Amino acid sequence: MDGTLLLKLLEEAEGGFVSGEALSRRLGVSRTAVWKQIRKLEEEGYAIEAVPRLGYRLAGKPRRLSPLALEAALRTARFGRQARFYECVGSTQDILHEWAREGAPEGALVIAERQTSGRGRMGRSWVSPAGKGVWMSLLLRPELPLARAPQLPLLASVAIARGIKTATGLAVSVKWPNDLMLDGRKVCGVLLESSAENERLVYVVTGIGISANLDPEDFPEELKEKATSLKTASGRETDRIGLIAAVLEAFEELYDLYREKGFAPVRLMWEALAESLHRPVELRTPAGIVRGTARGLDDSGGLLVEREDGTIAPVYSILL
Ligand code: BTN
Repeated sequence: MDGTLLLKLLEEAEGGFVSGEALSRRLGVSRTAVWKQIRKLEEEGYAIEAVPRLGYRLAGKPRRLSPLALEAALRTARFGRQARFYECVGSTQDILHEWAREGAPEGALVIAERQTSGRGRMGRSWVSPAGKGVWMSLLLRPELPLARAPQLPLLASVAIARGIKTATGLAVSVKWPNDLMLDGRKVCGVLLESSAENERLVYVVTGIGISANLDPEDFPEELKEKATSLKTASGRETDRIGLIAAVLEAFEELYDLYREKGFAPVRLMWEALAESLHRPVELRTPAGIVRGTARGLDDSGGLLVEREDGTIAPVYSILL
């Protein structure tokens, strides 16, 4: 996209000046063409300082998410390379389902600044205020037997935890099946909705909701004790584009590893990040409430729960 490379070059200078001549050389265009691209970036909301003899310097970024900013930050081969941005939608899930049925490729991404009917697991709604979070849906086409579907939420939560760690330094833990937690409160939720035919997955719409820069008052009363944001936990604003790029990179990397090596590495990573192993748990599953002590994951992605009578059996987050 026009301006992407220029933005990359300015970002690489980390707030320092890059001369017009160097830019024109690296971009392979005239100084006037560089200046035109600079104007375009300014129109997109970037603050660019121009000083004679020194050149140009990136002095500020827009707060809004944009295709240009994402493209400049992305380091993936497929995930997020085709992305649709919206100011306000009902749910990014619905938009991606439609796009998937029209043939969207694996890695296709739908992002919104705000959702009016954001949805969570088990029929709950998802708080998605404007400009403060990462509300996005990512398309997977895993071509797997349906029986392996329970592995995917676990893979997603490990990948997102790793992405958050890279982008913010915060060590989030995972809570079965796919919540991400900070200081004992939920900071991110994942919702997988799949379409299957003949016992095989056709596509999976992976909904990711990260409460990045929400303030405590953004949560409704009933969630105030249970939810937090990256901002509340770290005391600073998170750059949402950097966060999205890091999550997509971690996701693509882990997904490729999973395709190559199967579930075993993901299982180990999930167990290492899990906050409630070997503690009493009460789990809400599609099949009802299960109480016991979580002991780990089995090969298919079920959580092994030891019941009061000492028997151990897996529970699943998805009804197959
Ligand atoms: C949960 O923990 O219950 C899952 C929450 C998933 C929220 C995300 S936000 C982006 C995507 N669109 C939705 O409507 N939901 C998911």
